[in-house]
Order: sequence, then C-alpha cells, then structure tokens
Amino acid sequence: MSEIADLKAALIADIAAADTLDSVEALRVGALGKNGVVTGLLKTLGGMSPDERLEKGPPIQDLREAVTVAIADKKAALEQAALDARLASERIDMTLPVDLGPQGSVHPVSQVMDELTEIFADLGFSVATGPEIEDDWHNFTALNIPETHPARAMHDTFYFPDLNDAGQKMLLRTHTSPVQIRTMMNGTPPPIRIIAPGRVYRSDSDATHTPMFHQIEGLVIDKGITLGHLKWTLETFLKAFFEREDIVLRLRPSYFPFTEPSVEVDVGYTLTNGQRVIGGDGDAANGGWLEVLGSGMVNRKVIEACGLDPDEWQGFAFGTGVDRLAMLKYGMNDLRAFFDGDQRWLKHYGFSALDVPTLSGGVGA
Ligand code: DAH
Repeated sequence: MSEIADLKAALIADIAAADTLDSVEALRVGALGKNGVVTGLLKTLGGMSPDERLEKGPPIQDLREAVTVAIADKKAALEQAALDARLASERIDMTLPVDLGPQGSVHPVSQVMDELTEIFADLGFSVATGPEIEDDWHNFTALNIPETHPARAMHDTFYFPDLNDAGQKMLLRTHTSPVQIRTMMNGTPPPIRIIAPGRVYRSDSDATHTPMFHQIEGLVIDKGITLGHLKWTLETFLKAFFEREDIVLRLRPSYFPFTEPSVEVDVGYTLTNGQRVIGGDGDAANGGWLEVLGSGMVNRKVIEACGLDPDEWQGFAFGTGVDRLAMLKYGMNDLRAFFDGDQRWLKHYGFSALDVPTLSGGVGA
C-alpha cells in the first residue's frame, strides 16, 4: 500500500518538475509504456486471487488514473506555454507601412481604348476585330483604294515575301478600315454599329510617327443614314471623350477612296498658358483647329464589294489615331515614348489599375 503511495508521490513530483514535452513523454513511457512501472503493477493483478485483487486493485488503478491525468495536464500546460511564447515572439505590427513592391500601371493607350469602348457602348456600338496580318484585298481593294495609291507603295507598307493560298499579297494592315469589310461580310445582316480599335503598321518613324500605332474605326450601316447622323455621333463622342461640353467641330471636305463624300474633322482648341487645350471655338482670337478624324459616308462601291445593295443600305465610317487622342487628352508630346517601355514614363503617364478615373458618367450624363 504505502509502496504504491510512495511511487505515486514520486511520479507526480517528477511529472510536476518536467519542463519539456520530451521529458514528459519519457516519464509517460517509464510509467505507462509497455514496460512501464505502472503497467508492470497492473500486470500483477492478473495473477492475484479475487480477494487479493479486490484489495490491491483499486490503489493500482488509482495510481494509473492519477499518473495519466497528471501527464495529460502537464502536456497541455507545456503546449499552451509554447503557443504563448510563439504568439509573443511572432506578433505582427499591423501599423507598419506595407511594402507593396513594384506596381504596374495601365498604359495610356489601353486606358483610352477602354474609354472609347465605354463611350461607344453607350451609343449602342459593339467592338469588332480583324487580323493584323491582312491580305491586299481587305486592306486596299475592297476599300476602293486604287493600284496607284501611295499607301500601296512597297516603301510605305510592310509586305510579306510570300503570297497567301489565294495568291494575294499579305501585309501588316495599314489601318483598321479592313475591319469594316470583314464586319459587313461576316454574314451578320445590317444594321451594323461597330467600333474596331487595334494596332496598325506603316513604314514611318519620327517624333509623331511610329511604325506601329493604334487606330479606332467606326462603322454604321443602316437605312436612311445621313451626314447628320455622322456629325451628331462624332460630336457626342468627342464631348464625352474630352469631358467638355464646349467642343466645337469643323468639318472640311476631303477625299478617302472608301467614303463619298469624305470629311476631315477638326476640333477647336484654346491657347491657355501657351498650351493647346481642346475646347472652344477654333476661330476665336486665342483659338485654333486640330485635325482629329477622317470620316465620311461609306462609298457605294465598298457596300457593293461587301455584297450589300447600296440602294438599300447606307452608312458612315470614321477612323482616328488612338495614340493621338491620348496625347491630346493627357498632354504627352512624343509618340515614340509610348512604345519605349521606359518605366519612369509609364509611372508618370500610366493609370492605376485599381483606381482608373473612368468616364463612368457615360454619354449624356
Ligand atoms: N483609314 C484612314 C487612315 O488610316 C482613316 C479613315 C478615314 C477611316 C475615313 C475611315 C474613314 O473610316 O471614313 O488614314
């Protein structure tokens, strides 16, 4: 009896003194393991007479119970202490400024394309696309551009050395106008109202020209379309884009093979602190005109080339440079910087992806 009481006192004291999980585990094995002391005592019960077992059994069971509980308690206490220590040492100071690392930005060309898409979506236009590697027919012939047109010259256009399977010359499209042809021919019957933003290529390079640049094309094909619809659409678009009500347009007669009549569109600007700011009457004392668009009524020959009846369907088209619109709106002056990939320039002129000042007011808001 007293042997067991002594053993219990000794084991409980050892467990109480243990200060690591490993030493608690060693004590557990020594007491309750296969060859442990307490296990040994439990085994002796099997060889006892019922009377003896009745007498000696309870204290041994009590010993096992006490040691088991003491070990479990100690383990829990040590684990809690380890967790407390970790929490104390690994505490995060939420008030420290966060290092965000390098941040990307939205390129002004992407930003302006998004703005244009948003404006024209409000006017019921959807976005159409076409290939950047075009054939001669879509890029020139179907658009009524004659063989002798300078745009077709070898030194103005990037041609591929080989013809395509249909024997046509292949080239990097020189404008987004072939998307007009592809849209009219894709089987969707008119009415058509699309814009086509995208990359175009010309063999040209100076401060205002780069071999690759961006255009946006517009095309409307419907019944009873007039120059009045064209003017209203362009005026509404330019007011929304420049976010000014005082946009004044000047339409000048011009010539494009794929429109008849053709008009070039200027917007008035006002000289403010020596800067040209879009808005106001270009004929005013401190004003002037900037050409921003080519446009016109779609030439009958183009409508016919696309398999539509020009006596039934009319339309207007326009095309403009996205990069140029970006320069005018956001005040950049060297087009080449757009495509240099200089991170300082991108940081200065780029837009935050998460905080883009959109035209969410929309057209007419
Ligand atoms: N494709 C012409 C160019 O690149 C721009 C243009 C002019 C497009 C008049 C049009 C248009 O749709 O009607 O210079």
